Amino acid sequence: MLIYIDGKYIPAEDATISLFDGGYLYGDGLFETIRLYSGQPFDLDGHLKRLSTQLKTLEYSWQPAPGSIHKIITELTILNDLTDADSRCRITVSRGGSFDVLLPLQDLHEIKPTVSIFLIPIADTISQMQKTGIAVTAMKSGFARGNFPGLKTLNYLPTVVALRAARKANCQEALLIDIDNNILEAATSNVFIIKNSTLYTPPLELGLLSGRTRSIALTTASKIGLNCVEKSFDLNELLNADEVFLSGSVKEILPVIKVDGSVIGNGKPGEQTLKLAKKYRQGVLQSLGG
Ligand SMILES: Cc1ncc(COP(=O)(O)O)c(C=O)c1O
Repeated sequence: MLIYIDGKYIPAEDATISLFDGGYLYGDGLFETIRLYSGQPFDLDGHLKRLSTQLKTLEYSWQPAPGSIHKIITELTILNDLTDADSRCRITVSRGGSFDVLLPLQDLHEIKPTVSIFLIPIADTISQMQKTGIAVTAMKSGFARGNFPGLKTLNYLPTVVALRAARKANCQEALLIDIDNNILEAATSNVFIIKNSTLYTPPLELGLLSGRTRSIALTTASKIGLNCVEKSFDLNELLNADEVFLSGSVKEILPVIKVDGSVIGNGKPGEQTLKLAKKYRQGVLQSLGG
């Protein structure tokens, strides 16, 4: 597999970053994950806009130029024989730094960030899980994503630990909950419930990632006649919902059929969820000209 790092295409096993990069030392960096359908990135502009805003928030002077990033991604699909495949694209921007500037606190514009991009083919398990639905585990409040939950920073330790706990509990995802018992999101997805034909998802003000798929799912849900409300709910309300699903760029719309020991609805992917998933995929293919 060839990857892109700082202007070069090199074998994945040869890719390195400096020991003194702020991303490595302090998690000072941001990332995006974008899904490619038959070699074409979906919603690249939306992802790059989010990255661009967040880079400005953290005072990075580097900005992604959509044309150049698109070119790099296309080059990676060609170099890795992924032009016809579905893959996930990871873009990582980290602070950079050196032994003399271990913790850059000022003149941030003078430090050259590290920019890397790589592709990984999508695992078959995703489409399987979309059909069967998944089980999730509910985490205690300490696993919410820290002080900057709206940013997609390199500080993903709480979610990595939550995902490991999920795996141990034979679940595929983990629900993150705040100290007031509000469901926030899942470790790497946004969360939705449907009750009496109304779709609820936690509001961004609670402190969660403004998922690209969340936003598209809300628009798509309105199109299929669901009333959409951004409102907080707790685990009890989630357990009593008619349907529950997660959203994310790679997993798209993923039905949840079990939360720890409790079954959601009739224990099968919900009808409205499957309808939304189908409509979402149609929208993706339409936007890519398929
Ligand atoms: C914590 C968290 N919430 C939500 C999402 C879904 O975001 P998106 O739809 O932009 O992929 C992600 C994606 O990785 C995430 O890490």
